[in-house]
Amino acid sequence: MNFLSGKHILVGVCGGIAAYKSAELVRLLRGAGARVRVVMTASAGEFVGPRTFQALTGEAVWQGWSDDRSGMDHIELARWADRVLIAPATADVLARLAQGRADDLLAAICLATSAPLLVAPAMNQAMWGHPATQANAAVLCERGVRLCGPATGEQACGDIGAGRMLEPPLLLQAISDSFGRGLLAGLKVLVTAGPTREALDPVRFLSNRSSGKMGYAVAAAAREAGAEVTLISGPVSLDRPAGVALVRVESAQQMLEAVMQRAGACDIFVAAAAVADYQPAETASRKLKRQSAELTLKLKPAPDILATVAGLPAAPFCVGFAAETENLRHNAHKKRLGKGIAMLAANLVGPDLGFDVDENALLVVWEGGELHIEKDTKYRVALRLVEQIAGRYQASPHDKHTESHAEHSA
Ligand code: CTP
Repeated sequence: MNFLSGKHILVGVCGGIAAYKSAELVRLLRGAGARVRVVMTASAGEFVGPRTFQALTGEAVWQGWSDDRSGMDHIELARWADRVLIAPATADVLARLAQGRADDLLAAICLATSAPLLVAPAMNQAMWGHPATQANAAVLCERGVRLCGPATGEQACGDIGAGRMLEPPLLLQAISDSFGRGLLAGLKVLVTAGPTREALDPVRFLSNRSSGKMGYAVAAAAREAGAEVTLISGPVSLDRPAGVALVRVESAQQMLEAVMQRAGACDIFVAAAAVADYQPAETASRKLKRQSAELTLKLKPAPDILATVAGLPAAPFCVGFAAETENLRHNAHKKRLGKGIAMLAANLVGPDLGFDVDENALLVVWEGGELHIEKDTKYRVALRLVEQIAGRYQASPHDKHTESHAEHSA
């Protein structure tokens, strides 16, 4: 998948044993469609040769000021880069960056660039844990540098602890995530998540297996993309995602009320909750007593929150979810049209899929298009979904985001 197509990534390689993994990182970035240029520090050359990077990138490699042929390469490279990723980042480079030094080409580029900077620390666990390194890392974070890792595990020196460079696929992901940021900046996103509980009496209720994980992941991913996010959640045992406003509800009716209070002011509505389709026709005010005779429960339809929001005169851009056990594509398109919404994300449910698991795969459908998001953690899937939502939102007329069911069935 060429998700980094057209993007310019400048990879800084410092002198550490993990430098050999930078070759794999460069290969993965290239595979994702990015143009990659490598700037090595003087000591990096002791661990890996410039020719490796030259062959993998198809570009010149810079090893220091002596390679700054024009005398202005550090400025040109700083302008060329959409992202600068230093991997591995030694304790020394973190210290130099924290001080704002320009004592080698890589440090000078970092000072001169306006591109977001990501660093993947790699060093002995004691060096990483040292208060000086921790203070440098904290300074960099405060300045908006994205710290990727380090990972914990066995180290080249035999120690065990935090200090291993994050694996190249995770660094690729960090780069890809960094482009997702800001996609929803300035927009208000409302998300529903979790199950609802429909009371039979004061102690019993009807509910379902939804864990809320997918909806919480969507809320976190939308926040990560810069949106102002409100999450309306049924009862789940998950923590509030950072930076997200959380409203807890129990029943479909309460969820509807919480949503309708905010739907008019939101730009995008994502209905990820597994809302009850039916609720007891009557809720007993006292606990139902056990009886020897059969008990028949009478149910009535619960309010359809998504359809209600989609039916508003100035409806937000609506995204629904559908859990299907069969005919995923057919049912997804049909349900999107039936609900009169812009986009629908469908997933197969069954053993190990969908409910109460940490991974998910989605088929996202919209008018005239669809996207398969491969099985991954729910957060990773949510990031992809949010990217897609942002793209479709931007492409759609903002005054009316829903589509008339009649138009499509005509
Ligand atoms: N939904 C909702 N309110 C309901 C039921 C569903 O807002 N009372 C939303 C869900 O959050 C989801 C979408 O509608 O985004 C689809 O839910 P689903 O239960 O799969 O669809 P149904 O229309 O109920 O169809 P089915 O007969 O397959 O259950």
